Amino acid sequence: MTIPDVTARGPALPGLPGGAGLPGGAGLPGGAGLPGGTQAGAATPDAGALPQPQSSGFSPESARQDIPILRRTVNGHPLVWLDNGATTQKPRQVIEALGAFYGAANSNIHRGAHTMAREATEMYEAGRAAVAGFLGAGSPDDIVFVRGTTEAINLVAQSWGRANLGPGDDILVAVLEHHSDIVPWQLIAKETRARVVPIPLTPQGAIDQDAYADLLSSRTQLVAVSHASNVLGTVPPVKEMTALAHRYGAKVLVDGAQAVAHFPVDVRDLDADFYAFSGHKLFAPTGIGALYAKPEILEAMRPWQGGGNMIDTVDFARTTFAPVPRLLEAGTGHISGVVGLLAALNWFTSFDRDAVAAYESALMTYAQQALATVPGLEVLGSAPERIAVLTFTLAGHDPAGVADWLDRDGIAIRAGHHCAQPALAHYGLESAARASLALYNTSEEVDQLVASLRRLQAAPKPAG
Ligand code: ALA
Repeated sequence: MTIPDVTARGPALPGLPGGAGLPGGAGLPGGAGLPGGTQAGAATPDAGALPQPQSSGFSPESARQDIPILRRTVNGHPLVWLDNGATTQKPRQVIEALGAFYGAANSNIHRGAHTMAREATEMYEAGRAAVAGFLGAGSPDDIVFVRGTTEAINLVAQSWGRANLGPGDDILVAVLEHHSDIVPWQLIAKETRARVVPIPLTPQGAIDQDAYADLLSSRTQLVAVSHASNVLGTVPPVKEMTALAHRYGAKVLVDGAQAVAHFPVDVRDLDADFYAFSGHKLFAPTGIGALYAKPEILEAMRPWQGGGNMIDTVDFARTTFAPVPRLLEAGTGHISGVVGLLAALNWFTSFDRDAVAAYESALMTYAQQALATVPGLEVLGSAPERIAVLTFTLAGHDPAGVADWLDRDGIAIRAGHHCAQPALAHYGLESAARASLALYNTSEEVDQLVASLRRLQAAPKPAG
């Protein structure tokens, strides 16, 4: 099978892929009510004069036309999806690739001696090569498929960590990390009697580089750092931090969950020892992600789960193992997930990535200025380098109430602790609201967010 051509843009759904010859033409759920409607004019009085975000070489419409869900309504309003930090929406090329795989090409991989097993294996390995290319890895063999960032970090903790950590060793973890990059280290530290040491933040929400330099020592075995914070948007100087860690012989794991959809990544330029990301935050399906590790580190890693696929021969007297990366991929992999991830990478990399990053940066500036017109709204974090994530509090309203109000206008944001309680605690908070933007978001959607928040602030407060 082949992945649908990404150059064929536009709304071909409903009616899944013609080319794959699927029975019955599975369309989108009728209940979703694709309206094809226009956006309600929601001019923001004080934000109306802001300069529009622009980037030569990229228009959000070129991405939007491929995302069918953006044409649905929620609570009678066109959907405004500003919860991209939690998950991104999927282009039809990804949806079609999944339908085409299950409709015309479904097979297990590696084991079967038949045409479709070979085809599925080729597709799976093409996905691995695409991920390697996307991350700038030297070889597809440096890529392990996992369920997502959380599983990737747990894999490193359980496999590399168990073999390399011991009493008195330090694992440095930045305070801005989400729980997936804290708890796996706490678990393995408890087992190995190593210590998890938090790297503090500055008041702006950047990683305190002086404190980091002071914390590094010959005890440091690993530094775990996000390439972009899911709460503060902070993009730490990962390349410099990695170079410093290497001077002490420490390894560096970079959590790319929030970064990969926003700016180009080159793991060899970063000199990262490990790099993890989740497909679903990159326009691909849930349940698939990837771990990159330097080849010499991967070669030395021991299995963390046993089962099929990761063995060479099994005998009750002695079992021998497959080479990496298969050694770390026990059981049947998420084959359709890899097919979807491959389609997502093909789609995403068909855009000029630098132009996308420039557009998102301009949209972020626009959003910051527009949100500043909402009375009582405060944005968390002001680090110099940030992705388009705006976490905020609104005076007089709890974050869950803000999200609920916006939802009535069809605007999806996240409220709560964002799986990053230490980052919120840094600001004395347990909860906040978060709008997280992607390449398909527009200034009109930001205007709608701001207009809705201004209406909330102007609405009569309930008595008592
Ligand atoms: N870490 C994900 C988020 O930020 C779940 O929403």
